[in-house]
Amino acid sequence: MNIFKAKISHLIAEVLQSFDTSEVYTAEMLESFIEHPPKPEMGDYAFPCFTLAKSFRKAPKLIAEELCQLLQSSLNDTKELLSIQAIGPYINFNVSMAHMASMTLSTIFTGNYFKENQSTTRERVMIEFSQPNTHKGFHVGHMRNVALGDSLCRIYQYNGYDLVAANYIGDVGAHIAKCLWYYSNHNEEAAPETLRGEWLGRLYMKAVQKLEEAPLEKSKAYQEEVSHILQRLEAKDPEILKTWEMTRQWSLEDFDTIYQWSDVKFHHVFYESEVDEAGKKIVLDELEKGICERSEGAIGIDLNDVDLGFFLLLKSDGNTLYSTKDLALAKKKFDEFAIQRSIYVVGAEQTLHFKQVFETLKRMGYQQAEKCFHLSYGLVTLKSGKMSSRAGNVILFSQLQQEMKNFIQTNYLNQYRGQWDDQEIEETTRAVAVAGIKYGMLNQDPNKQIVFSMEDWLVSEGDTGTYLIYAYVRIRSIVRQVGQPTIENIDYNLLAHPNEQAVIRQLFDFNEVVWMAGEQYRPSLLARTLFDLAKSFSRAYTTCSVKHAESAELQSARLLLFHCVAETLKQGLYLLGITPPERM
Ligand code: ARG
Repeated sequence: MNIFKAKISHLIAEVLQSFDTSEVYTAEMLESFIEHPPKPEMGDYAFPCFTLAKSFRKAPKLIAEELCQLLQSSLNDTKELLSIQAIGPYINFNVSMAHMASMTLSTIFTGNYFKENQSTTRERVMIEFSQPNTHKGFHVGHMRNVALGDSLCRIYQYNGYDLVAANYIGDVGAHIAKCLWYYSNHNEEAAPETLRGEWLGRLYMKAVQKLEEAPLEKSKAYQEEVSHILQRLEAKDPEILKTWEMTRQWSLEDFDTIYQWSDVKFHHVFYESEVDEAGKKIVLDELEKGICERSEGAIGIDLNDVDLGFFLLLKSDGNTLYSTKDLALAKKKFDEFAIQRSIYVVGAEQTLHFKQVFETLKRMGYQQAEKCFHLSYGLVTLKSGKMSSRAGNVILFSQLQQEMKNFIQTNYLNQYRGQWDDQEIEETTRAVAVAGIKYGMLNQDPNKQIVFSMEDWLVSEGDTGTYLIYAYVRIRSIVRQVGQPTIENIDYNLLAHPNEQAVIRQLFDFNEVVWMAGEQYRPSLLARTLFDLAKSFSRAYTTCSVKHAESAELQSARLLLFHCVAETLKQGLYLLGITPPERM
């Protein structure tokens, strides 16, 4: 809650009561109209009077002047507000910066500030993200989903939601038959010791290539071999099942390594293989009820009346599809986890699929369909264009990790060799790499395409994770040099420089930004705020020295202020999935 906005809206609501207006204005309603004026000189908050014009039947400018006069007298009774003035159709308020500073800095110092958004317990929400397929390579494009889903989970938890982070691994389907076909019939290499999942991904690529490039007669034979493997998989033939289990495990181990490296955790992992049967049953039941229908032997649902086409749900041979399993999964989530909202973080190319899934559930009489939401996001491309495994320009996880490591150590960390132990160098390398990749994926809105560029994302100047880490460690080192911050006997009136006040305002707004970032599914809002905060800190630090402060009192106040910037950066980065090192 923003206590300044609350105060302002209450005062206005009180004053409005003495008018005989056609509409009743509650403080809550009025609060939603309050904005920040475009320039800080104009005040901290502004109330636009346009909203009142209709029931007052007066020009907004006149309303602003009149209300302003009436409000003047109530001002003396508040400690939050200093002055007001009418500027055009707006009433502008100046808040007490000392009050804002004291409230914000003391609660950041104790850590209570970062618990404020949790003061209300909200609904139980599941966020499903990552969802890689076994037997395929994990590449830089997949990192966008991981970064976005994980950050939203952290933000939802911070905002007081009862959150379940879920994964849904694609461990069945045609792609696996292709991979295993190549593995059994054409592969001559021994499986490597590590990253065997990535190696399987390469076999899968080779399979696709071989199938495409085969001359006509061969091609047919190959296709039949693949189909045969798929049939055996679907029939759960024990021999092929053994190979499936072993290779599936290889991929799962790779995924674990990747999640561990990126500090990502799930409360629950679903697998496509476990919702297969249940999905089939749902479709057959609905066929009996007449909701689904047969079409050329297959089963589906006609959604043409809502422009969603015919949605295929079961193959003519009775085997399941991607769609079949999503019906069962959606129900399982609500039934077994008692969730109230279900979010799917999946690329924009599956928009139609999810519309069809949710519409189908609705027609099956499943009320919770309305509580399902597809959070789509755009593609990750390279400077050279689209990533394509055929063109051989896909950046697989292991390559990404290695190249980032080289870059970070050469540019930032090799200078500390001998001074720091190897473990700290390795751990800092990982932290900076994770910051670089996650921040780069999150500082843009989900619906925008992203151009991945390792060098651009790792540089230490500009809107990057590295820049934020440098700002953070710099403050930590300043604080270490000057001494322990405290909240005892701080004179908050001393933080009077506009650059210091800009920082205070940003700290005060932090919780509201995190709240919005969650509600709008946009961690980019938070990324923007952290970048601005780091820049404001730099500006304040050059004009308002801590070490050479004019008095001991001023030094304590500034030390506390900068310490709070570091704490907020740390908390904000955490919400983006980033843990900054303590020195660099
Ligand atoms: N594994 C799928 C893919 O790679 C994504 C799964 C998305 N989630 C879902 N419930 N369908 O395309």
